[in-house]
Amino acid sequence: MGQVLTDSFNRAIEYVRLSVTDRCDLRCTYCLPPGYRDFSEPEAWLTFDEIERVIRAFTELGVRRVRLTGGEPLTRQQLPELAARLHALPQLEDLSLSTNGMRLKKYAHALRQAGVQRVNISLDSLQAERFASITGGGKLNKVLAGLAAANQAGMSPVKINMVVMKGVNDDEVEDMVQFCIEQGCTLRFIETMPMGDTGRSASGHYLSLEEVRRRLAERFELLPAVMSGGGPARYVRVAGTDLRIGFITPISQHFCASCNRVRLAADGTLYLCLGQDDKFELRPVLRQGIGHEELKDFIRAAIVRKPEKHEFQEQPRKIIRFMSMTGG
Ligand code: 5AD
Ligand code: SF4
Repeated sequence: MGQVLTDSFNRAIEYVRLSVTDRCDLRCTYCLPPGYRDFSEPEAWLTFDEIERVIRAFTELGVRRVRLTGGEPLTRQQLPELAARLHALPQLEDLSLSTNGMRLKKYAHALRQAGVQRVNISLDSLQAERFASITGGGKLNKVLAGLAAANQAGMSPVKINMVVMKGVNDDEVEDMVQFCIEQGCTLRFIETMPMGDTGRSASGHYLSLEEVRRRLAERFELLPAVMSGGGPARYVRVAGTDLRIGFITPISQHFCASCNRVRLAADGTLYLCLGQDDKFELRPVLRQGIGHEELKDFIRAAIVRKPEKHEFQEQPRKIIRFMSMTGG
């Protein structure tokens, strides 16, 4: 039997979300302020060698899945090279990517070659002007070209992530269902989380996905479904189609009891919970020349400190970092 990395609430931690940069070429309203530029400098980022070392240690401890994320991960130079290096780690079973899709057309093929099997693309609107306004200048046609390229490269499944906001894009959920049926991708709806000032003000548009599900059930027949992937989404399938729809409900029904993940920020900060500040800095210890077994001990000790749950509802003012630090 392989190693299992468990925290103090007996949860097996088998998934690392790896942010390769905090930079992003978009400014989604719920994530970053317009014109935001206060990013970390590349010198602060872990190098590919350092990332590979850390992920190797994690896989030896029991991690089986890694997701490349950002900011926007495709703004980091040579990402396919990093993907190939991680894919080569013997215990890693699943390497995936979350992207805003703007640069995906260019990189989809190389990423697939490098071992990235599946991709999640953020897409909050199918209307070009509205898309530009939600994302602070994003080009819908670029994202659609990126989606097509991912399909062509044989990435599967391709999942579309839509943050549903009342009065902003909730009139498009039915259109998005139709679009994903046509495209053959999986669709996931996400509740707006109060991350950073941006997320808190966007939370004024919070909409419970229960309501979205009720609305969809009036128009489509929804059957219970399962979907592998290890995440918190609860799925249904639309009868008569292959479409699976996932509901990610951190606010209305939180899923902390089955949390299986930690987040590594670009600068080597290991965040133990999306909704808490608990963190361990890996970069200093790496640069002080920590040995391999010591690094594993360090990680084990960090995991023991993973908090039991987020408190987005109890303490919505609590979190200061933007989502772009850890890529959701
Ligand atoms: N609430 C919910 N999801 C968010 N994301 C970023 N900020 C928020 C927020 N405040 C998610 C979106 C986006 C991904 C990169 O991070 O799903 O697609
Ligand atoms: Fe960039 Fe994603 Fe944040 Fe949008 S949500 S600004 S695409 S990191």
